[in-house]
Amino acid sequence: MRAYLDGRFLPLSEARISPMDRGFLYADGVYEVIPVYSRFPFRLEEHLRRLQNSLDGIRLPNPYSAAEWRLKILQLIAETDFDDQAVYLQVTRGADVRRDACFPKNIPQTVFMFSAPLIAPSSEQRETGVKAVTAPDIRWLRCDLKSISLLPNVLTRQLSADVGATETLMLRDGYLTEGSASNVFIVKDGVLLAPPKDSLILPGITYDVVLELTVKHNAPYELRRISEAELRDADEIWVTSSSKEVLAVTTLDDKPVGKGDWVGRPGPLARKTHAWFCEFKEQVMRRPGA
Ligand code: PDD
Repeated sequence: MRAYLDGRFLPLSEARISPMDRGFLYADGVYEVIPVYSRFPFRLEEHLRRLQNSLDGIRLPNPYSAAEWRLKILQLIAETDFDDQAVYLQVTRGADVRRDACFPKNIPQTVFMFSAPLIAPSSEQRETGVKAVTAPDIRWLRCDLKSISLLPNVLTRQLSADVGATETLMLRDGYLTEGSASNVFIVKDGVLLAPPKDSLILPGITYDVVLELTVKHNAPYELRRISEAELRDADEIWVTSSSKEVLAVTTLDDKPVGKGDWVGRPGPLARKTHAWFCEFKEQVMRRPGA
């Protein structure tokens, strides 16, 4: 697999960083994951804008302009063997000679990227939906920043992995926030509901696309806090992310989700929205920049 480290493209197996890197010592950095379809990076400008927001949030200067990022990402995609990829990029506050929490002076940021095959949900997962469990949200209060400090997400995700489920949905103070690596939507009485973009959730790129498609197709929606009771009583639950796209949760904490003839199966709005999403992807690939 190809990688990029501090100005150089190289095989991933040859990439080396210092153990004094602040990413390693303090998780002092931010990251992005950009899906690539048929070698076309999806919503690249939006990912680079979110990266800038994360960097601003941790007071770390952006090492590159958007044009420089674009060139480097396109080169990495070109050097990678697969058509559908997930580009991972990470910027840390660099490697100092001392371990000191205060920001170092005159130390260059560490920039690391690699691209792996994009792993999409299987056709079986699409057909049957997936299992999820709930857990308390144990993260900090700046979940809008895509920080590499992912230990709470790792521990939370493992809770679902332990019971063979695909995602863990997090609750804070009795309200739904998001998944360990995804945003969450629910449907109640035909209305799509999602938590608003505030500092308690990551502003997902897929979340934005889903809302744009909802508006475009005149489907009713509301952005507001969702209580635990509303989550458990939802007609549909979906998770969205760059790799999952729109994926129905059909079992929550061992109970089937849904009503009528789609109990325990993907609901009608999940199917429709995923179809809109696929159609949109196709259009964008035919008309890059759309
Ligand atoms: N995760 N919320 C969290 C906590 C996430 O980690 C992610 C993405 C999302 C969805 O964002 P987007 O639609 O931009 O992918 C929401 C990525 C894929 C990851 O960490 O691998």
